[in-house]
Amino acid sequence: MEEWKMRPIGYIRSSYSDTREVPKGLGTKHTKEGTLEILPEFEQGLKDIEGFSHLFVIWVFHRTQGYHLVGTPPTDDRPHGVFSTRSPRRPNAIGLTAVELLRREGRILHVRGIDMLDGTPVLDIKPVMSSIPMEKLRRGWLEDAEKRGNHEEPVLD
Ligand SMILES: C[S@@+](CC[C@H](N)C(=O)[O-])C[C@H]1O[C@@H](n2cnc3c(N)ncnc32)[C@H](O)[C@@H]1O
Repeated sequence: MEEWKMRPIGYIRSSYSDTREVPKGLGTKHTKEGTLEILPEFEQGLKDIEGFSHLFVIWVFHRTQGYHLVGTPPTDDRPHGVFSTRSPRRPNAIGLTAVELLRREGRILHVRGIDMLDGTPVLDIKPVMSSIPMEKLRRGWLEDAEKRGNHEEPVLD
């Protein structure tokens, strides 16, 4: 099987030290602020990032072991395939979080919308450049779960 080697470009600083502290479930909105501390050797790569309001952060679930191909997420009481969920237990333990960029201080990015633990390794950052129009967006089982739970708000993570 092919493998690719990756290295962190930086680390998340957040107030969450345990997975139980991160809000979960239907209607959860992630508003927690934190920082992305980019390693000095990659600082140049942040040039012009200030112009973007939102960033995709690609990171590693470094405290997770193993995976389940089918599981029941905290947002539903029915099982779903891992690739239709945001479960941390996936074949490649990669996390993806859209955060709001509040400001940059050198190689430190202050952001809002953190759902990662303190010390989480960051693999990459990409600016959010486009969005999918709401009328084109289908949200599968999550929409059904929200209806059953009488939740109107989308889950943002
Ligand atoms: C449902 S996942 C979603 C993460 C990301 N927004 C995504 O979609 O890939 C978020 C959960 O991952 C867990 N988590 C956060 N950082 C982690 C880490 N470094 N290692 C393992 N689990 C982590 C927390 O329990 C958090 O509630």
